[in-house]
Amino acid sequence: MSKPNWNDLSHSEKLLALRDSVMDQIVADYRFGDHDESAFRAHLAREKALWNPVQYLGDLQEAGDPPNKEVVLGAWRDLDRSEALLELIDNSIDAWNRRREQYPDKTAKELNIYIDIDSDLGQLTYEDNAGGVPADKLINLVVPGHSDTDALAKSIGSYKTGGKKAIFRLATAINITTRFWNPVETGDSHIAVHLDDKWLTDVSLYRFPYLNVTTGGDLQRGQTRYLMQLRPEPAGAHWYSNPAEFDKISRDIKRTYGLLMARSGQIEIYFPKRGKSIEPDLNEFYDFSGATGDNLDISPQQLSFDTTMEYGGLQHALKIEVVIGCRVTTARGQIGPGFDLYGNNRLFTARDTGLFADLLPKGNAASLVRGWVNILGPNVFVPWDTHKRHLNYDRDVIDLLRTHPTVKELFANWTATYNQIGGLGTGPGGFKKTIDSRYELTNPKTHRVDFKHSETVAIDATKKRGQKLPASVYKPHIAPEKTKKKDRGVQLGFAVTVEDARLLAARFQIQGSLETAKTKKELSEKAKEYLLGALKTKQSRKA
Ligand SMILES: Nc1ncnc2c1ncn2[C@@H]1O[C@H](COP(=O)(O)OP(=O)(O)O)[C@@H](O)[C@H]1O
Ligand SMILES: [Mg+2]
Repeated sequence: MSKPNWNDLSHSEKLLALRDSVMDQIVADYRFGDHDESAFRAHLAREKALWNPVQYLGDLQEAGDPPNKEVVLGAWRDLDRSEALLELIDNSIDAWNRRREQYPDKTAKELNIYIDIDSDLGQLTYEDNAGGVPADKLINLVVPGHSDTDALAKSIGSYKTGGKKAIFRLATAINITTRFWNPVETGDSHIAVHLDDKWLTDVSLYRFPYLNVTTGGDLQRGQTRYLMQLRPEPAGAHWYSNPAEFDKISRDIKRTYGLLMARSGQIEIYFPKRGKSIEPDLNEFYDFSGATGDNLDISPQQLSFDTTMEYGGLQHALKIEVVIGCRVTTARGQIGPGFDLYGNNRLFTARDTGLFADLLPKGNAASLVRGWVNILGPNVFVPWDTHKRHLNYDRDVIDLLRTHPTVKELFANWTATYNQIGGLGTGPGGFKKTIDSRYELTNPKTHRVDFKHSETVAIDATKKRGQKLPASVYKPHIAPEKTKKKDRGVQLGFAVTVEDARLLAARFQIQGSLETAKTKKELSEKAKEYLLGALKTKQSRKA
């Protein structure tokens, strides 16, 4: 029979063993999972140092309780109003996509999200047709930590708190109605969840009330509706009656989902009224140059790196899409420069300039850089924070991007081009003229994202040495600068009288015999310097 596994012991059993037995005895009595003896000994040494088992007397006692709502209540204060709405939109998109994968025939062909604001009542209606939520999954809508999303889902939900934070952020009370379209057709349901102001402010109450809707109700099959009584803020003119606020929210929705919508094409978001759909246009956010000509092509490049990364002891497939191009300007305006960061096509950080700083040009040419990085795969690999707003530089995928030789090669190609463009100068025919032609990122007919240069390469994330981009991968290029003809100079010579030579030597404070080659050379050099100097001061006076 095999020995008992050390990892199956309770904490107090381990403490006792570590205190009372020598290491040889523990190694003789137990195994350490599938690991060998030296790994077991190393592990025991760590545990001994960590728990310091000789210090304690008496039995283990226990304290603690489940967390309360303070955690979400604290987190919502960080969110701005757009971010709260984005969390709701994320959830609709994830729910719809998840369902589309499993039951394509029982899923709405087009996802429609309506956000309606009634500024008189101070109420906001958020509605989707993603499929609805059955009674046994209502908890996912309300209680932090509950969700259908897991770490490996290719989702834009990730931390299992987003929807809940949004409710606390925006509402003082909420009525959620959902008409679940049962994909296996064993009966739909139509339910209302009521979270009133008492429920929302009681920090320890997590049980929540719901009711079956039996009469009335105008929800279609598969629809979910959040009807919120909005938090009246700021004091005075509330945000929900301020058009400038709506413009900000519209813009945030456009840039967050512009790429996702261009790639999915079947998502419509209506805001701030049902009749008005938001039409994102990626060209609003990317000012790539598409300049082409004789020996010139600086159109943006899409390079996707196929790889795998480890999570929970297993390797999982992942695609890192890198898009890089040259802007049509060096102006630091609304659009660029910098890299946008996406997770599964959802923007979370705009215009980062730190990530690739050491791979890209410095100085003025740095303003030409624009692009994005899009992590496509398990959400756990996306380096975003819980609010999906910041980039975490200390993640494996970022380390991979910064150090993998194929990625470095891509950036080196572009850096050479940016520097070359910068070197064209500002005169006529300079860099402005060269880059001044916009690349249309979205095809005007199909509204799809189109790249003239698009490639996929498979890379090994664990091996760095010897990996190179295939020769077929596009390199941006501009015609080499015309090299200036080397100035060979013109030889002049003249003689002066000995008397004049003495005067010149005195003037330039040159000592030594005027007969030696050294003094003669010194004298002619000083004279040349003086003459050319006189010429230049004259020119600058004129100018
Ligand atoms: N509009 C919706 N339609 C269907 N299910 C939803 C909807 N909104 C939220 N959910 C449920 O709530 C969960 C999302 O909650 P959330 O706190 O945002 O966590 P996550 O990080 O997983 O997105 C989803 O997994 C889903 O089960
Ligand atoms: Mg979410």
